[in-house]
Amino acid sequence: MRCFATAAAGSEAVAAEEVAGLGLSSIERVPGGVAFAAETSELYRALLWLRSVNRLLVEMGRFNAFTHDRLYAGVKRIAWEEWLDPDATLAVDVQLTGDNRWVQHSGFTVLRVKDAICDRLREATGRRPSIDKRHPAVRVHARVHANRAAVYLDASGEPLFKRGWRVADHPAPLRETLAAAILWLTGWRGERPLFDPLCGSGTLLIEAALIGARIAPGLASGRSFACQRWRTFDSGAWEQAVAAARGEIDLNRCPAIAGSDHDPAAVAATRANAKAAGVGEVVQVAVAEIGAATPPPGPATLITNPPYGERIGEKEGLAALYADLGHLLKAHCVGWDAFVLSGDRDLTRHLHLSANRRFPLRNGPIDCRLLHYEVR
Ligand SMILES: C[S@@+](CC[C@H](N)C(=O)[O-])C[C@H]1O[C@@H](n2cnc3c(N)ncnc32)[C@H](O)[C@@H]1O
Repeated sequence: MRCFATAAAGSEAVAAEEVAGLGLSSIERVPGGVAFAAETSELYRALLWLRSVNRLLVEMGRFNAFTHDRLYAGVKRIAWEEWLDPDATLAVDVQLTGDNRWVQHSGFTVLRVKDAICDRLREATGRRPSIDKRHPAVRVHARVHANRAAVYLDASGEPLFKRGWRVADHPAPLRETLAAAILWLTGWRGERPLFDPLCGSGTLLIEAALIGARIAPGLASGRSFACQRWRTFDSGAWEQAVAAARGEIDLNRCPAIAGSDHDPAAVAATRANAKAAGVGEVVQVAVAEIGAATPPPGPATLITNPPYGERIGEKEGLAALYADLGHLLKAHCVGWDAFVLSGDRDLTRHLHLSANRRFPLRNGPIDCRLLHYEVR
């Protein structure tokens, strides 16, 4: 099967390295994700283990489409009856890029793709799926670039950043998949302590603990995957992949993962989330102002996501916070590597440190840089 893992801008290289790390082949990195080849059991492993990707898609067909009739015919040629239960609910979405002058209304394009799938299933089985845009059992994505269409079945269902561990919220959480990509970019692989003095709801700490304890992110309870509802679902291969992943878990391998935040509600959220993720024992958090934060014994790695003044807090009040973070690094973290996700260059100047490296990343709508400081 040809598969495609979608990744946020800036995370594609991480996704490609993760895919390669699973031993998968024919990897091709493109803007927005990574294509690769996988057998069924490898697809299941990818679903369970990939940390930085948002969706995993299986390519069903690729063809020229320069009219809606061509698109309809191309989608209808796919043997949907082999993959889909006609009684399952379905949603279709279409992404249009390049010069698609033949498309006047994207809504009509969605309709033609949906009709082609439903007509094929009705002709083959006598039944047709009903549409559920919000909580479908299966999702089809069609990407039309100029006159070329590619059609995918979404193996993930709910996007993969929905790990199932977020039981307590925060006004400005990082996406779990972005936190995992950040951790990967820092080079932290669970071999030394990690600290986040602005931990919020604990996304970086929890994703780190999952890495440190070799917990596959897809194992979280309460999570299921769309491919489990496909006709081709191989429950034996799935159980094997799950059992192998469970066998890898080792909380004792995880180094100290510590954090703090001045907001008691954020600290409580981190505790609740860490417990739900199965890493409550290894994530240690405390309520503390940044100026009074107590890092674990080092050398360790500090990774943090301070407020930028875009979503919570106002920019003017934040200069002092960045200065305090810079002071914490210089006073307590000599010999450490520190990584700060910055959405605002004016604010990071107040750290009074010069960055060794910068990784461009996108945090939702915000263009960010992950800045690396070697504190010497
Ligand atoms: C952008 S949020 C971090 C979100 C976190 N990465 C997550 O995924 O939930 C920044 C955090 O910094 C905390 N914070 C702001 N000023 C602080 C200060 N002076 N001392 C300690 N924590 C502070 C806020 O309470 C907030 O939880």
